[in-house]
Order: sequence, then structure tokens, then C-alpha cells
Amino acid sequence: MMNIEQDLVAALEPIRQMTLAICVNHFFETGVYRKLEAGECDLDTLSRSLDLERARLGGLLGYLRNENIVSHDKGVYALTDKARLLGRYSAWYTMLVGGYTETFVQVGECLKGQGKWATRDVGKVGIGSCGISHYDAIPLTQRLMAKMDTPARTLLDLGCGNAMYLVEFCKTMPQLRAYGVEPSRDACLSAERIIAAEGLSDRIKVINKSVRDFLEGKEDLKPDVMVLGFVLHEILGQEGKAGVIDFLKTVTARYPAINLIVIEVDNQAANPTIMEHGLAKAYYNPYYLIHEFTEQRLMTDAWWQSLYEEAGLKIVNHDYPDEAVDSTRLEIGYLLKRRG
Ligand SMILES: C[S@@+](CC[C@H](N)C(=O)[O-])C[C@H]1O[C@@H](n2cnc3c(N)ncnc32)[C@H](O)[C@@H]1O
Repeated sequence: MMNIEQDLVAALEPIRQMTLAICVNHFFETGVYRKLEAGECDLDTLSRSLDLERARLGGLLGYLRNENIVSHDKGVYALTDKARLLGRYSAWYTMLVGGYTETFVQVGECLKGQGKWATRDVGKVGIGSCGISHYDAIPLTQRLMAKMDTPARTLLDLGCGNAMYLVEFCKTMPQLRAYGVEPSRDACLSAERIIAAEGLSDRIKVINKSVRDFLEGKEDLKPDVMVLGFVLHEILGQEGKAGVIDFLKTVTARYPAINLIVIEVDNQAANPTIMEHGLAKAYYNPYYLIHEFTEQRLMTDAWWQSLYEEAGLKIVNHDYPDEAVDSTRLEIGYLLKRRG
């Protein structure tokens, strides 16, 4: 009989990686990773302290041991170096696995059906996205804020996720007051916990609304800077191009001197040269796919620039994340102001 075993191992590699990605995310979400990070632990203590079913937890840990994520010695479990490496980047798991696994599962169904959108866990998307932004978009936003004509005093973050931008900015800018608007209840609850834990409840307020409901409301804020981190492409999916232009015009009519900071991802999915980049394959390729199937639309840098023009905005500055984090130049930050 022909020996197919080597082929089979190669052919099953995506299944191995799918299982691993999902189990690593459970490892983070259930708190097992955090517990082991605090110190090695036996199964009884782990299952009791985290209120997890002992036998099944043993099964998950056995699987993770075979993947070299935990070690198991004399009845005690500990994190491996590989686990600690994954742990540093857990936010990518929160967003892509926690937030979007259900989306990947629905791809086949959505291909058949009359523009039906796949679902996602929006709270986890917002929370994971903020964790990723800690490395790329938050430092980028800070660099763009330094280019503003006046120092920021009141910041409004629309689609703020778990308010990580607001917390990080308030920690480094003592004069700043910050407001976040976020439609996901889960992300708002997470934001409130983080803000309280950082002792910033007197300087940061989060409003559980969509941007439209917020703009139609009577909140009397006077922001000098507004942040839209990966949110315009959400509004584009929900309201179309005319809706985004109307939204931007409404914002600048209400706050004529506002500094607008927009972070977006340049849609280069069809550019084979860029898509050979390691981070493009590991991150942007699944990221682009997700956006084809959920109610959001990624566009190119050129497309956004022409939309800003139509919305009466000028680009004061633009920039990219630090090259040491992301050298693809696929993520772009724009500092915008109303023209004239
Ligand atoms: C990709 S996450 C970005 C989170 C964060 N701004 C960042 O830069 O990491 C998109 C966020 O926009 C929020 N969002 C989606 N539609 C929105 C709308 N119409 N108004 C306000 N926020 C919205 C989502 O709930 C989610 O938290």
C-alpha cells in the first residue's frame, strides 16, 4: 500500500492549528492561563478556584501539554515559554478567535445567501481590538495628537471598545478628560471595570450608545479631539458611503474646530506583493476575510482620502504604527480637520 502518512500529517496541519487556536483562547478566557501565570498549580486547586469541571479541565490541560503549552510534572501544571509568548499576544486571540470564530463557521452559509451577514461577538471584537491597539494604534494616535494645533484637553473616543485608549491617554496626560461611546454592553462593562481599577472614574465616562444615538442626544461635551479607531469602516458597513459623509459632516458642524483622528486599515487583499509579508499572512489575510462576511467594509487608503475630501475635511497629517510592531503600512492613522 502507498505510504500516505507524511502527506496526511501535512494535510491535517490546518486542523491541528484550528484546534490549537480555539483551545489557547479557552485557556485565556477561562482564567487558567492567568492562574498558572501567578504560579504552578495542581488540577484540584485549578478546578476548585476557577469553578471548572475537574475531569474536563484535565482533558484540556492534557491536550495543551501535548502541544507544549503547559508542562505537567509530579501532578503540578506550569506554563511553558511557548505559553508565555502566546500570552503576550492574547488580544489577537480575543479578537480573531473569541470575536470571529462564529463568523468563520458561517462563511459557507453566507456565500449562498442574498447578502446575509455572518454574526460575530462584538464585545470581544472591541475588547480584543483595544488590546491590539495598545501595541499599534494607541501609540500612533498619540503621535498624531502631538501634531494637533492645540494640546488635547477633552477627548471623545467613538466606538471605544473597553476604553483602553482613554485609560492610556489619561495616565500620560494629567490635564485630559475623556469620554467614550460604545454600543456593546459587554465592552462597556469591561470598560467600567478597567477605569475603576485604574482609579480614573472621575476623569473618564463611557456612554453605552451607537455614534448616531450619541450625536442625536443632548450630551453637552466640548471635545477638542475625537478618535475613531477602526470605526469608520463599521459605519460604512452599516450606513454606506453617504452615511459616513453625513456622519462626518454632522460631527464637524457640531464641533467645527475638532481634531479628528481616524485609524483605518488599507484594503490591499488583492495586492500579492504585500500579502506575502509575514504579518499580512498571519493577521491581515484572516482580517480581510472577516470583513467580507460581516457588516463592515474595508476600503483602500486612496478611497478614504477621496471620502475625506468629499466630507469637507483636510488631512493635516498621516502616519503608521511603529515599524517594530507592524512594518506592512497597512494600518494608517489620519489627523483631519474641517477645511476652510
Ligand atoms: C474594531 S473595534 C475598535 C475598538 C477600538 N476603537 C480600537 O481602536 O481598538 C470597533 C468598535 O466599534 C464599535 N462600533 C460598531 N458600530 C458602531 C457604531 N455605529 N457606533 C459606535 N461604535 C460602533 C464596536 O462595538 C467596536 O467596539
